[in-house]
Amino acid sequence: MRAVDIIAGKRDGKELSREELAFFINEYVAGTIPDYQAAAWAMAVFFRGMTPEETAALTDVMLASGSTIDLSGIPGPFVDKHSTGGVGDKTSLVLAPLAAALGLRDPMMSGRALGHTGGTLDKLDSIPGYRTNLSVEEFRAFLAKDGFAMTGQTKDVVPADRLLYALRDVTATVESIPLITASILAKKAAEGAEALVFDVKYGSGAFMKDPSEAEKLALSLTAAGTAMGKKIIALLTNMDEPLGNMVGNFLEVEESLDCLEGGGPADLMEVTLELAARMAVLGGRAENAAAGRKLCEQCLASGKPRELFLANVASQGGDPKQLLEMRGRRRSPVSAELRARPGPSGEAYITRIDAYKVGHAAVSLGVGRGRTEDTVSPTAGLQFHKKSGCPVREGDLLMTVWAASEEGLAAALPRLEEAVEYGSAPPAARTLVLKEIAPRTTPRPDQSFQPEAGNA
Ligand code: URA
Repeated sequence: MRAVDIIAGKRDGKELSREELAFFINEYVAGTIPDYQAAAWAMAVFFRGMTPEETAALTDVMLASGSTIDLSGIPGPFVDKHSTGGVGDKTSLVLAPLAAALGLRDPMMSGRALGHTGGTLDKLDSIPGYRTNLSVEEFRAFLAKDGFAMTGQTKDVVPADRLLYALRDVTATVESIPLITASILAKKAAEGAEALVFDVKYGSGAFMKDPSEAEKLALSLTAAGTAMGKKIIALLTNMDEPLGNMVGNFLEVEESLDCLEGGGPADLMEVTLELAARMAVLGGRAENAAAGRKLCEQCLASGKPRELFLANVASQGGDPKQLLEMRGRRRSPVSAELRARPGPSGEAYITRIDAYKVGHAAVSLGVGRGRTEDTVSPTAGLQFHKKSGCPVREGDLLMTVWAASEEGLAAALPRLEEAVEYGSAPPAARTLVLKEIAPRTTPRPDQSFQPEAGNA
């Protein structure tokens, strides 16, 4: 077999066989197929797509590129959430300890910043000392002790996704339903979760701009996940505007702590609680989403999820005391303020803050990567002081912006300015959760939340 024939086959719209996909992915992981051929193949998949059978075969091959994590001996149920990527989306950092406090176990294998979207691993890495490159033994130990553990793909576990993910990030090949499906499901199969909640984003800041495309992605993820024997619920959620008030790696860790302390912004809390409610349902803690949400609200108010988050920080190498002391202070010294310019009337409402433009600006600030070898800045990012629906007057403070470099700041400011739209009336309220896509599940109502019970 030759890589060039496989690339040409996909370019011409052929369905690739399992053997061809196995050859291509395995040789890429072994280093005998170079990045330029893998990039050409990914672009061909982007344009030509894949059949469900091809997507399933690609997922299997990516999963088989490394070992899987054996969770035997640790009591479940193992429930995880995965987002298809957004801007300011830090729900994972709240959901993992919340699920753990409900008595579920969340074996979370996440990704880094991808395209204009943020990455859970980059956020966690901004906590000094925190390690996201756990060995399988460490992952198992922290999962058993704290109820959750957060790690990335390694050279042993889903190495094919580690390489392809980084390559797609810088070759404009992220927005492909089969590539996203295989990337996510290979990680989820490797981590050992039995049940999965997918947060499938739509809108300008999502990879799928249109709700109907997002629904296709949700159906692809649900079908492929169900075929793997997982219990699945997908929610279609809005990503037209960044979630919450912070975009940036450490800034988002701070905002996650706010959520765990009851002070999270309304839009972020709404999406987080709706996702948490489904995790509770899939884990057998609630009969339905409404009951699950109530349970999650009570659980957050108990303070247990915050305690577990800080316990996990200590387990994975960080210092919880230092983390709390750094809140509000760990910022890049290169900064600027962005002020409202609503135009001639001098008074207006913010009608929209375009998540894609903000995400793109955030990459320039240093939150994400322009090239595979770039490092991200822990302290770059931005804070919104006003969001859509807020009345504004000329000169009001809209955002504080922190950059890794003066050049990055200069590139980001005009994009951020352009991201804000004004109008003479407030915009209609945004629907944050559009739709649930779920096969039926059987809850186990006998297991209810006990804040004191702990996880060990
Ligand atoms: N999240 C992933 O893990 N992979 C993708 O391709 C997109 C989002």
